[in-house]
Order: sequence, then structure tokens, then C-alpha cells
Amino acid sequence: MDQPVIASDCKGASEVVEEVLFDEATIFKRIGELANQISSDYEGRDLIVIAVLKGGFIFASDLIRRLSLPVSIDFIAVSRYVPNSETVQVKIVKDLDMDIKGKEVLLIEDIVDTGLSLNYLITTLRDREPASIAICSLLDRSDLRLVNIPLNYVGFTVTDEFLIGYGLDYRENYRNLPFVATMNL
Ligand code: PRP
Repeated sequence: MDQPVIASDCKGASEVVEEVLFDEATIFKRIGELANQISSDYEGRDLIVIAVLKGGFIFASDLIRRLSLPVSIDFIAVSRYVPNSETVQVKIVKDLDMDIKGKEVLLIEDIVDTGLSLNYLITTLRDREPASIAICSLLDRSDLRLVNIPLNYVGFTVTDEFLIGYGLDYRENYRNLPFVATMNL
């Protein structure tokens, strides 16, 4: 079988994984619990699940397959930039295809750090008058929080370590690892 292609500035996964924090089985079990809770909370209602790209797409794809609800899926991507040395701004770089007015919306993230990305997204999406917006993040790194964001569903809390896998990248690599791990930088 052909060897996987590794970007020239990145090492193979076996060289960079320091410690696996959440393995496949642990993630699978926790997603089942989250899916049961979400399915119960939204029983009888239709849900639009919005995966925040890029990191949120793997978690979202696994989560929606465990929901016992009518679900639509859409995607949005934001980018942070620094217009001057004192501020961080966020902008949408890929917008939704769907109209969310009057709909129940669940935003899916892989990780929440400062909360700046979600804060911008929630403020922006609220202007489109959905019936509700809730947030589900696989990981919560609250030590880094700058904005208070209510997270409705959280898979695991983590500390301030550099993480890769299950959507999380280092220079766009390692998102496809089936586990979440700390990295040898
Ligand atoms: C990561 C993550 C969140 C955001 C959280 O995305 O997926 O979207 O950062 O950070 P914050 O809470 O400090 O705003 P990133 O910008 O790395 O892009 P990616 O999802 O494409 O990897």
C-alpha cells in the first residue's frame, strides 16, 4: 500500500504525538452521551447543525450520525486577524448556505479557547433571527477564555497544551488523527 503523503514541513504522526488524551473509544462514548442529551433536549423539533470549519467538521459528522432528530447541516468558517496591536477581529470567510430565520441552530466546534470566534459568530447569527442558538464543543479550554461564552454541550475540558487530532491541526496537518493528543512541538 502507498505511504500517506506528509507535508514537507510536518513529521509523521508517530513522531509528533506526545500523549493521547482522548482515544477513539473515549470520544465515541462521549459523543453518544452528548447525542442522547441533544436528542432529548430538541425532541419534536427540527435542528440546523452548523459545523464551524475547519476544525469542527469531524466532530460534527460523528455527532449528527448519533442524533435521533431531523437534522439539516450547514458550514461556516471564520478567520481571526489583528488590525492593530491591541485588537483581534473576526470575520466570516465562508458563510452559510441556509437561511436560519426561525430555526433552532446548534453550532459545532472542535475547541473553544478565547471565545472570540464564537462570540463573533453568535452576535452575527443572532441578527439573522434564529429561534435559538446553542453551542456544542468537543473541547473546552477555558483557561484561555477572554469572552464569557455559555457552552451548552461540552465533550471534555482541557488545559493549555497544544493539541492535535480529531479536527485539530498543526499547520493544517494531523486533523485526520482519530484521537486527540498533545504534540511534541
Ligand atoms: C480554532 C477552533 C475554533 C477557534 C477557537 O480554529 O476550531 O474555531 O480556533 O479559538 P477562539 O476561542 O480563541 O476563538 P482555527 O482558527 O484554528 O481554525 P481551524 O478550525 O480552521 O483550525
